Amino acid sequence: MLPQKLRSSAFVSTLILATLLNVATAGAQQGGTDIAAEHARHLRHGINASMWFAQAPRNYSKERLQTYTTPDDIALIAHMGFDHVRLSIDADPLVEWQRAHGNTTAFMTELDRVVNTVLGNHLAVIIDIHPESSYKTPLRQGTNSVQNFTALWRALAAHFASSDPEYVFFEIMNEPEQDDPYRWQGIQSVVADAIRAVAPRHTIIAGGAHWSGLEDLLVLEPLGQSNIIYTFHDYEPFPFTHQGATWTSPEVQPLRAIPYPSSTEVVYPKLEQEPDLAGRYFLEQYGLGRWDADRVEKTIEFAARWSQLHHAPVYCGEFGVLRDYAPPAMRAQWLHDMRAAMEKNNIGWAMWDYQANFGVVTKANGVTTPDPAIVNALGLHAPENR
Ligand code: BGC
Repeated sequence: MLPQKLRSSAFVSTLILATLLNVATAGAQQGGTDIAAEHARHLRHGINASMWFAQAPRNYSKERLQTYTTPDDIALIAHMGFDHVRLSIDADPLVEWQRAHGNTTAFMTELDRVVNTVLGNHLAVIIDIHPESSYKTPLRQGTNSVQNFTALWRALAAHFASSDPEYVFFEIMNEPEQDDPYRWQGIQSVVADAIRAVAPRHTIIAGGAHWSGLEDLLVLEPLGQSNIIYTFHDYEPFPFTHQGATWTSPEVQPLRAIPYPSSTEVVYPKLEQEPDLAGRYFLEQYGLGRWDADRVEKTIEFAARWSQLHHAPVYCGEFGVLRDYAPPAMRAQWLHDMRAAMEKNNIGWAMWDYQANFGVVTKANGVTTPDPAIVNALGLHAPENR
């Protein structure tokens, strides 16, 4: 992504000023035990329920919403020992619901049903607004898009305001794709205020700009409110976690059977998979970078350091490995190393994802089978091992 130039509209200046004022007061609000740290106890080891209320194939028929992930799946998630579900929810069907002015829609009826099922299994749930890029792009400039997004959250938070604030969390936006961190900071502040006005006790989850990676977290200043958990996503080393992926940087697409841990010795025989110099450079750097448990831990420690510096809880809402081409034992090893590093640093996490191409279970012929190596790597219990 190209960095976006700072825009000079009065609106953005106001946002930035509001942010700076909020940042200035944030320190005072951070003394004592923040309720967010209390609530974060319910977000220790979670799973992303993806491709369901958001993302491809964007089929939100009642039939698919009722059958893609079922109450049996939610029960299995609880049985394996996960303590929460991060539920990704597309923005466009929520906008339709908002336009229905108090009348429900099939999408919202099903969403309510699923939230209740998750809670009924003693799992916490993150209401994660997970829009398509087409919804996020207009937020990069102007005011209308921000006002609409804020109004959407105000309606959504009001809808869930009577839910249990210990178990229901509001995540402002998945991977906002905003190139201007200061503008994004302002947008998050405005949205958090709107949520707070209608649901004062619920914990908000906020994240950094761009793709909400660790580096985006490290430059983030806390919002001027308490009761906020700060999230980051971690898919590093990308040549390993995204080998074969078709939707992101072109260098990962040709990759197959890329090993972890990495070294120049194990990576050199793979260089010919990359058709051009840029790809070879990308892959060789992975080898030179010597990714292993120690490097993973040294990376995760920075999230913990941000948390200590700002006295605010940090959470990793996504980490995972595309399972199509990664050597299975190495995939389990990386997940183990990440999980262990996060637990050592008191960082709750949610693996990406439950049943899609990064999944922990496989569904075939009506049978759902957890992958015991992955469940064990996550420190949980595959049902047959219980
Ligand atoms: C995206 C998914 C993607 C995953 C891993 C998520 O945030 O929404 O589409 O599969 O990251 O790249």
